[in-house]
Amino acid sequence: MGLLFEKPSTRTSTSFEVAAIRLGGKPLYFSASELQLKRGEPVKDTARILGSYLDVIVARVFSNDTVEQFAKESGVPVINALSDLEHPTQMISDMLTVYEAKGRLKGINITYVGDGNNVANSLLLACATAGANITIACPKGYAPGPVFVSKARKLAGKTGSKISVVHDPQGAAFGADVLYTDVWVSMGEEDETEKRMAAFEGYQVNSKLMRMAKKDAIVMHCLPAHRGLEITNEALEGKQSVVWQQGENKLYGAAAALEFVLSGRRQQ
Ligand code: CP
Ligand code: NVA
Repeated sequence: MGLLFEKPSTRTSTSFEVAAIRLGGKPLYFSASELQLKRGEPVKDTARILGSYLDVIVARVFSNDTVEQFAKESGVPVINALSDLEHPTQMISDMLTVYEAKGRLKGINITYVGDGNNVANSLLLACATAGANITIACPKGYAPGPVFVSKARKLAGKTGSKISVVHDPQGAAFGADVLYTDVWVSMGEEDETEKRMAAFEGYQVNSKLMRMAKKDAIVMHCLPAHRGLEITNEALEGKQSVVWQQGENKLYGAAAALEFVLSGRRQQ
């Protein structure tokens, strides 16, 4: 298993490495700066060569197009370990965590508060697939990608989940079984920090917002978290938080993703 990471990672990279070892594989990690990619070798050439050495590639990239090119050119299964548009493997552990806490996914009300980013896009698709209801509460101008919203609505047509994008965090939190948040400034957006800090004021998961949700609501965050910005220390460390379980579940999610693409079940 090759891991190609253009951006930092604690959980995703380590969980995939450990999962591969536990399943009898051998992980090889390379940061993009160690490869000839840094000196301008085209992505498609890199993908062809790495694919001829490896059985599976796990890639965290800036542009989603890079992971698409790897999938097209490498000839081996490619797992998206986060791009500017999506974070699909995060969703395996997240859906597992909700299932462990609530005993089902269908009909569960999940409210995501904050930036309509890669995590929000993937959450839309995961909830719509699983039949969970998803409300994204974001400031105007920070909505999830329209392609993801319409894809989610299409999936929801089959599973019965309800999909909403709103701009009122308090209203969105009302009756929620799950309150989920992520960073206001994703990797690669650091130049926008000041603007984003102003835009996301009021989109914090804190005890006031938690009072709007169901009494037994759980609090989720894919991590890394910024205490005092998108979530308070109290909410992150409180009794309703499942973030550490969610983080641990990334290991089982990684193992499941590897088993899925390598066992031949995907083709079936
Ligand atoms: N949640 C998540 O993807 O964490 P890392 O950035 O540490 O991999
Ligand atoms: N939205 C965040 C997720 C980090 C795991 C980012 O892309 O930086």
